[in-house]
Amino acid sequence: MTIGPRSNERCNLVLPTISKLIDWRLWLILILPLFLLTMVYPSSLYLSPLKALLPNTSVAGVNQSQQRIAICLVGGARRFELTGPSIIKNLLKEYPDADLFLNSPMDRDAYKLSLLRDAPRIAAVRVFVPQPINETEPRARVLTARNSPNGIQGLLQYFNLVEGCLEMITSNESRGNFTYAWIVRTRVDGYWSGKLDPEAFVPGVYVVPPGSRYGGLNDRLGIGDRKTSMAALSRLSLIPRLDQAGRRELNSEAAFKAQLEVEGVAWQEKQAPFCVVTNRQYGFPPGRYGVPVASMGSPGPLSGAKCRPCNAVCVGPCVSDVVGLGLDRDWSWTEWRNGSLELCDASGGWESGWEAIFDRVAGPEPAEARKRVKRMDVDACVLAFDEMRSRASIWDAPPPNQICGLGLGRLI
Ligand SMILES: *[C@@H]1O[C@H](CO)[C@@H](O)[C@H](O)[C@H]1NC(C)=O
Ligand SMILES: *[C@@H]1O[C@H](CO)[C@@H](O)[C@H](O)[C@H]1NC(C)=O
Ligand SMILES: *[C@@H]1O[C@H](CO)[C@@H](O)[C@H](O)[C@H]1NC(C)=O
Ligand SMILES: *[C@@H]1O[C@H](CO)[C@@H](O)[C@H](O)[C@H]1NC(C)=O
Ligand SMILES: *[C@@H]1O[C@H](CO)[C@@H](O)[C@H](O)[C@H]1NC(C)=O
Ligand SMILES: *[C@@H]1O[C@H](CO)[C@@H](O)[C@H](O)[C@H]1NC(C)=O
Repeated sequence: MTIGPRSNERCNLVLPTISKLIDWRLWLILILPLFLLTMVYPSSLYLSPLKALLPNTSVAGVNQSQQRIAICLVGGARRFELTGPSIIKNLLKEYPDADLFLNSPMDRDAYKLSLLRDAPRIAAVRVFVPQPINETEPRARVLTARNSPNGIQGLLQYFNLVEGCLEMITSNESRGNFTYAWIVRTRVDGYWSGKLDPEAFVPGVYVVPPGSRYGGLNDRLGIGDRKTSMAALSRLSLIPRLDQAGRRELNSEAAFKAQLEVEGVAWQEKQAPFCVVTNRQYGFPPGRYGVPVASMGSPGPLSGAKCRPCNAVCVGPCVSDVVGLGLDRDWSWTEWRNGSLELCDASGGWESGWEAIFDRVAGPEPAEARKRVKRMDVDACVLAFDEMRSRASIWDAPPPNQICGLGLGRLI
């Protein structure tokens, strides 16, 4: 038996039968405390009271030798020279039997994806030229452009990246006549300072990091079995359902949470050791609805908070003031206790000498990879992509010399 939505279904089925057997007053005595408990519980512990009363047979964890895992990476390769090696080490090589699916836009940074030559397994690679996505009426009603740098179009592009990855996965499945037991979905611009914990695999529950909730749920990483992942990753195709349910003016995180709600999928928050590397500037110190930018050298786990390489300007008591007291818990707040978080002043560009900071924080191998990308020429890039292509089952991308030429300045 699994915990989560099925426990609801179960209750609905069981309720009328039992109530025939038990006096209704007794039933009230049973159900009232449960109801009250549900009311006062924070939403992040959604369904926990019910869960606690049910036999616990769903055990977190994954047996890699028995269960197939798909790892889906989406997004632009902006700083992939910094994030790529950490993803290979802490995600791909930790789960060496997992199949990698990559869905990225074609741009001047896409050549950096050639670092994935070192991935243990490559199932499918898709690099595509982004096209405008139709802002249909349901989409315009359900979504809001507020706080989205590229408006509703930006949200739709992101949703399309995520759902595109799911389509790649199901297409590989139907061609191979099997299904993946688990799907791990995260971003190309994530810097991983530690490995993904096998405890993040929980049957029947979609697992996301805490914090960075922005009025919904953190959507920078998600781990789920196939069924919960279908609901979590169908970001475009579930919009009509959100529209029917009367959901309005949602940002990405709020739409994500609403999606799990309408599909009856339970979620759980678990910390994860990664941060999202950002080139953008944010006011410092962040106000109640500002964005904190973590130092990549923070002890972590950072659970997907924004980060950059910096000499931290705010540590210890400063963090407890700025983040603990200052930030709205349901917005940009992120876990800071145990000294996990140290903050950068991100009101300007990356500080001079950031390369040395990164090399020190990340260690010798990632530092070497960073330098390799800096030195990379078109020939080395093409060679790496050719090798990747020979190992991938599905290759849906412009020719390597175009990807490499666009980024490395020899246009073909
Ligand atoms: C249920 O199982 C999970 C995963 O093994 C465990 O972490 C949790 O403590 C268990 N809960 C109860 C109530 O036994
Ligand atoms: C995982 O599955 C394999 C194959 O069935 C089994 O030999 C192994 O003991 C399992 N490992 C764990 C940790 O359950
Ligand atoms: C799906 O991906 C796996 C892993 O790379 C590969 O072995 C398999 O051949 C792929 N199946 C199809 C039909 O592409
Ligand atoms: C966009 O939507 C409109 C109205 O639904 C439709 O007429 C048009 O063909 C669509 N365009 C594309 C590119 O799908
Ligand atoms: C797919 O797998 C199922 C169960 O393993 C099997 O019964 C079926 O014949 C397979 N179909 C094809 C087309 O190989
Ligand atoms: C702080 O660290 C302890 C010991 O590692 C751990 O049990 C606890 O969950 C941590 N608290 C937070 C908020 O991360």
